[in-house]
Amino acid sequence: MAFETLIVEQVGRVTRITLNRPQALNALNSQVLTELIAALAAFDADDGQGCAVLTGSEKAFAAGADIKEMQAQGFADMYATNFFSGWETVTRTRKPIIAAVAGYALGGGCEVAMMCDFILAADTAKFGQPEIKLGVTPGMGGSQRLTHAVGKAKAMEMVLTGRMIGAEEAERAGLVARIVPAADLLDEAMKTAETIAAMAPLAVVANKEMVNAAFETSLAQGVQFERRLFNGLFGTADQKEGMTAFVEKRPGNWTGR
Ligand code: HXC
Repeated sequence: MAFETLIVEQVGRVTRITLNRPQALNALNSQVLTELIAALAAFDADDGQGCAVLTGSEKAFAAGADIKEMQAQGFADMYATNFFSGWETVTRTRKPIIAAVAGYALGGGCEVAMMCDFILAADTAKFGQPEIKLGVTPGMGGSQRLTHAVGKAKAMEMVLTGRMIGAEEAERAGLVARIVPAADLLDEAMKTAETIAAMAPLAVVANKEMVNAAFETSLAQGVQFERRLFNGLFGTADQKEGMTAFVEKRPGNWTGR
């Protein structure tokens, strides 16, 4: 597939998707959305691919939704097109997506990073929801996902003032999984993705679904969801293979079934 705003590369079982609108600091316009939806659908459908890395440039993961595209829109335009709703597709991808963030992840950029399964941050990463400075609010789930990630106090301060936080503050607050030196970010993200892509594919999807369930259900329902899925995996060939491989002291040879 050829894209204009993305670079998509397959490295073994890992799909690397690089946002590529450097002239606009990777601002997320409708074309980026359309292309990203297509790239993620192809990744999800490909049995040869196990994990994706979504990244940007050294200067910007993405500096937000494209302000120039939104500037002239009226309420009826936004409402009729359900503007931004397509971005939720990122969260419906069944296989894991790691956001590898260097530089700015602002507004929609921060929101897309938070839609991924976890964020690896370069020490140069800066996260923020500056929409209030444009007279609006986050519109791609940021007010909810940021609050889930960092708690009310920090989320409220960030959305009300537009203050950016650096990588260290983001890690302390629980927004990012890990910080790595900027020069190592891509290698580290790819290595982490390879580790995931080498696991039993059904177990990968099940583990992702379980953790996500924690955000949608009560504790008791979430634990029940976990147990049902856990029990269900005992009907798979890869559970037999994984446990036999452990007993035989060899790596598992997965079939994805
Ligand atoms: C469109 C953008 C953009 C954006 C940057 N650019 N961010 N274009 N939409 N979100 C463009 C600039 O217009 C400029 O193009 C080029 O990218 C380089 O940006 P500069 O501002 O010259 O770079 P710099 O001085 O280094 O400043 C970097 C920055 C600043 C601090 C990240 O660009 C910035 O504040 N950007 C906007 C951040 C933001 O408000 N994001 C939230 C968007 S709203 P030209 O052609 O002029 O050289 C959003 C909300 C979603 O995401 C939900 C509801 C609305």
